Amino acid sequence: MSAKIIAIVGPKGGIGKSTVSSNLAIALAEMDKRVIAVDLDLGGANLHILLGVKQNKLTLDDFILKKVDSLNEILIDTGIRNIRLISGGANIPDIANMPFQQKMKIINHLLKLDSDIVILDLAAGSSFNVIDFLLIANQQLIITSPESPSLIKVYGFIKSTVFRMLNFHFKNIDSQEGIELLTRAKDTDNNPNLKTVNGLFKELSMTNEEAVISAKEVLAKFKPNIVINMVHKADEAKAGNVISAMLKQYLDVTSSVVTTIPADEMVRRALFKNKPMMTIYPGSPFSLAIKKLAELCI
Ligand SMILES: Nc1ncnc2c1ncn2[C@@H]1O[C@H](COP(=O)(O)OP(=O)(O)O)[C@@H](O)[C@H]1O
Ligand SMILES: [Mg+2]
Repeated sequence: MSAKIIAIVGPKGGIGKSTVSSNLAIALAEMDKRVIAVDLDLGGANLHILLGVKQNKLTLDDFILKKVDSLNEILIDTGIRNIRLISGGANIPDIANMPFQQKMKIINHLLKLDSDIVILDLAAGSSFNVIDFLLIANQQLIITSPESPSLIKVYGFIKSTVFRMLNFHFKNIDSQEGIELLTRAKDTDNNPNLKTVNGLFKELSMTNEEAVISAKEVLAKFKPNIVINMVHKADEAKAGNVISAMLKQYLDVTSSVVTTIPADEMVRRALFKNKPMMTIYPGSPFSLAIKKLAELCI
């Protein structure tokens, strides 16, 4: 049986993607799931440190440089029961901008990994490389902080993802009208009727009703989960509802706020000790929130 792939993304750096990835891996492992954590923050790899792995000899660099033939050969035992790691490379300049073929090769190998769960810790931003890894996942966790600038970035990130999905789809079904509408929709000042995905569908339905039906089916499968991290006060969690409403209204994307994770000073302390939060402070507010998140991921 193939693994469930969970992608951890977030348009901003330093928002907690790797912290959530590593601790979620531990929470799932404690629930007797076999987990492979994959550091895909190419160029900024640090997941191994968060999992307490010091030895980082075998990395994705070795796979990319064809020193090994399969990802199985670079799987590292983390010493934590049920968790193996694919460590991100750090030595190939410009690797975050790898060519399409290289990315497809990694994707094909990721899809073949033997595990219950594969966690992808992705880079910040909304480059095609990030989005394409995101699109192979069965579940997408979008990590954000509750402040407006971060939420706006989430909206922009999901919009880029939706446009990429629709672009792939229209190319697949050979709908030139669809592709042209997507290009025009980038300029909403001159095309205000294309400001929402539903507006775009309305326009497309005049020439190609079938393309609209199939595109809606594709979009319906994309249900990202928003995780609000570093919450200081309970009412900050409400920020997620605002972004969910925007995603529905403008992009026809149904998202839900899966959970909120409190800002917890012990996270920093664990980092200094080079130990994952879940292992040294399992009862802390952060760890309890991660356990709740893990339950929503199985
Ligand atoms: N819930 C939290 N409470 C306190 N500090 C946090 C929390 N989540 C993340 N951090 C801290 O924020 C910083 C960035 O986290 P990191 O996971 O590396 O972000 P990213 O992978 O998104 O770049 C780290 O110093 C981490 O310890
Ligand atoms: Mg990171």
